[in-house]
Amino acid sequence: MPLLELDEVEKHYGGLAAVNKVTMKADDGEILAIVGPNGAGKSTLLELVVGLERPTRGTVRFGGQDITNLSSHRVRKLGIAMVQQTPRTFPTMTVLENAAVGAMFGSPNGGHAEGKALATGNNMLELVGLGDRRHDNVENLNLHQQRFLELARAIAGQPRLLVLDEVMAGLNDAELEASIEIIRTIRDQFNLTIIWVEHVMKAVMGLAERTVVLDFGNVLTEGLPDEVMRHPAVIEAYLGGEIPDA
Ligand SMILES: Nc1ncnc2c1ncn2[C@@H]1O[C@H](COP(=O)(O)OP(=O)(O)O)[C@@H](O)[C@H]1O
Ligand SMILES: [Mg+2]
Repeated sequence: MPLLELDEVEKHYGGLAAVNKVTMKADDGEILAIVGPNGAGKSTLLELVVGLERPTRGTVRFGGQDITNLSSHRVRKLGIAMVQQTPRTFPTMTVLENAAVGAMFGSPNGGHAEGKALATGNNMLELVGLGDRRHDNVENLNLHQQRFLELARAIAGQPRLLVLDEVMAGLNDAELEASIEIIRTIRDQFNLTIIWVEHVMKAVMGLAERTVVLDFGNVLTEGLPDEVMRHPAVIEAYLGGEIPDA
């Protein structure tokens, strides 16, 4: 049984079908990339999965359970964590306190007491490469570091499914390589399933095990990353006819 299943999921905003009859699944343990042009519905699709938005139609199942209409809080408790495109860190707290919040409130196992949560937060910061920033105020982190702090907070809650929205935007090649390694390590260490929206082709090629292409809210195609990126409709829709060199 797949860990996550979407069955004809739709989200309408007024007359616009931001997500249109999307049927897809994520298998236990896989890293699934979702790619597509701006406005394709990628973020909306993720928000439907984590309960930040309700589908207009269709069903979302997680571990066989219907979670279509659950609140984001309930979904979190069932073991799905998200890192959103715009970081949502707690500005008056330190980096470590931010990470520890995930262990206190995010866990399907009921959450940890403060001391243990701080220890967990510390470990997760080390994993995402922010160990030496633990006592900094969050406001001293750049945008990418804030996204990876959110990643630390998300995994501190011991999710089974991690949902990431463009966490590698704006990185140089070396940072990209390091980030790919971090995400792969996290998946391997915690046996996670990862659904990951990404714009950076190099990152998709380097990390994704399967790729779903969205265009105008529809699934255009899916498959192995290098197959998908050579699909004529993808080259046309995603890159305006330009052949990817990643
Ligand atoms: N809350 C909203 N209200 C109205 N329209 C929205 C809302 N969220 C997204 N949209 C629209 O839905 C479409 C898909 O947006 P989005 O999911 O953010 O795309 P992507 O993440 O692929 O760039 C866009 O046309 C966007 O303007
Ligand atoms: Mg988006």
